[in-house]
Amino acid sequence: MQTTQSGILAEETKLARYMAFTIDSETDVVSALTALATQVDLSNTVVGLGESLVNLIGKSVPGLSTLSAQTGQGIEIPSTPSALWCWLRGTDRGELFHRSRQIESMLVPAFALSDITDSFQYDENRDLSGYVDGTENPAGDEAIQAAIIQGQGSGLDGGSFVAVQQWLHDFDILDAMQTNERDDAIGRHIKDNEEFDEAPETAHVKRAAQESFEPEAFMLRRSMPWAEDMEGGLVFVAFGKSFDAFNAVLNRMLGNEDAISDALFKFTRPISGAYFWCPPVKDNKLDLSVLGL
Ligand code: HEM
Repeated sequence: MQTTQSGILAEETKLARYMAFTIDSETDVVSALTALATQVDLSNTVVGLGESLVNLIGKSVPGLSTLSAQTGQGIEIPSTPSALWCWLRGTDRGELFHRSRQIESMLVPAFALSDITDSFQYDENRDLSGYVDGTENPAGDEAIQAAIIQGQGSGLDGGSFVAVQQWLHDFDILDAMQTNERDDAIGRHIKDNEEFDEAPETAHVKRAAQESFEPEAFMLRRSMPWAEDMEGGLVFVAFGKSFDAFNAVLNRMLGNEDAISDALFKFTRPISGAYFWCPPVKDNKLDLSVLGL
């Protein structure tokens, strides 16, 4: 029986649209959420609930929290929480547009759309910096172990937590970097995606090496590039059975362990950040039983 929102474990689609909502009319929230839970097509849309929404309903979801704004050496990590997040996955921009309108109409007037971001696949899973993203993602059973809540009982098992951050790249800085400098920043060679034998301590893959954490910090990244007018970057999306792995990696990227910050920050920075709980699925509907719905 399918108890996980299918998009979490599936391959990235060619296109996606992310919608974030705030609460506009508290009295209508339960009916709008119930409508979404029963009507949204979970074969192509992933839904996440923010802590503010769960609090409003007067319940709690063990493990759900709100991302804290953080700072490193000259680095700022913003926290921009929202009540609800929808990740629309697809292949046709027109269909995504119409689906986003349908979803919005299920949710108003309880929820107001606060942010919308369109994203796309660049080549085969490349970030706009040119580097392949997702190579070291856990797969198969390991992906389930990393990303899906298990052993906590019905209403929770099959669910997941997701960290979402929109990153803005500085392409002028990137253009001015030599290929070896960029390779050093990531810790992989752009020409063949091979990992360095000895990457610099600042290299992103060195900072983020999942197996080097105690406990290991495996997460399931489903990030995709975004571009609008002349700006662009990455919508970083990482699913976990908790937020622990994301927090541990971000902490080390910021240099909080050893005063060495991730070289990624030379050319990119997050401009948003939020945590959500992605409820499990029952009978093809979102299972909101832990919220009493
Ligand atoms: C704009 C922002 C980012 C870019 C462009 C980026 C890009 C990359 C690239 C190119 C790789 C190497 C290939 C791969 O294994 O996927 C990688 C690995 C990884 N990244 Fe990022 N990343 C970004 C932000 C983050 C953040 C915010 C986190 C978590 C807090 C993170 C966690 C990881 C992890 C866990 C790995 C795999 C490391 C390993 O075990 O080898 N990344 N990233």
